[in-house]
Amino acid sequence: MSPAATETGRAPTGRGASARVGIIGAGQLARMTQQAAIKLGIELVPLAVSTSDPAAAVAGEKLIGSPDDLEALRALAADCDVVTLDHERVPHRHLAELEREGFALRPGAAAKRYAQDKLYARRALGEAGFPVPEFATTEDADDAAALAERWGGALVLKAIRGGYDGRGVLMLEAASLPGEFPREGEWFAEQRVPIERELSQLIVRGVDGETVAYPLVETVQRDGICIRTVSPARVPSATADACRDLATRLASHIGAVGVLAVELFLTPGGELVLNELALRPHNSGHFTIEGCETSQFENHLRAVLGWPLGATSLRAPAVVMANVLGSDGSDPAELLPDALRAGPVHPHIYGKEARDGRKLGHVTALGQTHEEAEAAATRGAEILAGGSRS
Ligand SMILES: Nc1ncnc2c1ncn2[C@@H]1O[C@H](COP(=O)(O)OP(=O)(O)OP(=O)(O)O)[C@@H](O)[C@H]1O
Ligand SMILES: [Mg+2]
Repeated sequence: MSPAATETGRAPTGRGASARVGIIGAGQLARMTQQAAIKLGIELVPLAVSTSDPAAAVAGEKLIGSPDDLEALRALAADCDVVTLDHERVPHRHLAELEREGFALRPGAAAKRYAQDKLYARRALGEAGFPVPEFATTEDADDAAALAERWGGALVLKAIRGGYDGRGVLMLEAASLPGEFPREGEWFAEQRVPIERELSQLIVRGVDGETVAYPLVETVQRDGICIRTVSPARVPSATADACRDLATRLASHIGAVGVLAVELFLTPGGELVLNELALRPHNSGHFTIEGCETSQFENHLRAVLGWPLGATSLRAPAVVMANVLGSDGSDPAELLPDALRAGPVHPHIYGKEARDGRKLGHVTALGQTHEEAEAAATRGAEILAGGSRS
C-alpha cells in the first residue's frame, strides 16, 4: 500500500486536481458523480467492469476490474486519496479488508453493511428501536405460508442481498405460496405494509458528523421500479419533520459518510415505517442536480473528502424527476431533440444499451406547481422512452 493512499487532500498531482477519489462501480451514479467532480477539479477514477460502462465511457482515467476481486479494489484504493462506491455489489469482507489495510473507505464497511444485507439491517435497526416492518427468517414454503396466514393472508419475500429495481422483492399470497416460493437464493419474509405514500429522505453526513438534509421526496413505483420522484413531498409538515429527524438519527447511528437515502413507507394512519437504506447517491436524489443549491453528487464528494457540505434548499417550488425506462429497444439518445422540443426540461442520458425496463436516463422539470413540473417531466421521459413523439 502506498502511504499516500490513506491521506486526504494529498499532495497536488501537478495536474491541478485537488483530490483523487476512487469509485467502485461505473454505472450512471458514478457518471453523474463525474460531472460534479469535474466542476470541483476532483479526479474521479471508476473501477469499471467494462470500458463501455456509463462512467468508464466518460472518465479520463479508469481501472477495469471486477468488484469481487480484492486485488482490483486494492489497486484502486492505492491510487486514490479516498474510495467510495456507486453500488452495493462488493463482497462485504473485501470492504472490511480494505479498511483493515488502512485505506480510506467512505462510507466504511460497517455502515455499508446496512445497505448490503437487508436482513441484517432489519434486525439491527429493529433492535435499536427504528420502526421496521414485522419480519422473520423463512426456510421453506410451509414456513412462509404460516407467516402469511399470521399476517392476514399475504407477505413480502425479500432477497437478503443483491436486489434492486424490485428484483428480489416478491409480493405473495398465502394461497399461491407453495408454488411461488423461490427455489434459489436466500430470502426473508416481512409483513406487507399498507402504503399511503412512499417517501425518501436524503441525508448527507460528513466525516466529522455534520449532517444536511434534502427536502423530503415522494417516490412513485410501478412494478417495484421507481418511475417518478416529486419534491417537496405533499405531506403535513410534521411528517416531513419526522422523516428528517428519523433519517438524521439513523445516519449517525450507523456512522454513514456521504449520501444516505432512507426509503420510508407512510401508512394511511400516518405512521412511518422504514424500508431500505442506500449509502450512496440515490435515484430519489437525481432531482437535486438542477433542483437544489448543491446536488447529491457534489455533496457526496464533499462529504467523503471531509470538505464542508453545500446547501440543500430547493431552487423552485416544485421539482419532479421522471425515469426513462427502456421499452421496445428505443434509444433515448436518438429521441433527445424531440424531448427538448417538447418543453423546458433537463434530460440526462446514461449511455447504456437499451433494454426493456432498464433505467436509461431521467428527466427533471422545475415548476411553480407540482402539476406543472410533473406534466413536463413525465412528458419528456415518455418521449425519450419512445412512447410518444412530438
Ligand atoms: N414490506 C413491504 N410492504 C409493502 N410494499 C413493499 C414492502 N417492501 C417493499 N415493498 C414495495 O416494493 C418496492 C421495492 O422494494 P425495495 O425497495 O425493498 O427493493 P429494491 O428492489 O431493493 O428497490 P430499489 O430499486 O429501491 O433498490 C418498494 O418500493 C415498495 O413499493
Ligand atoms: Mg427501494
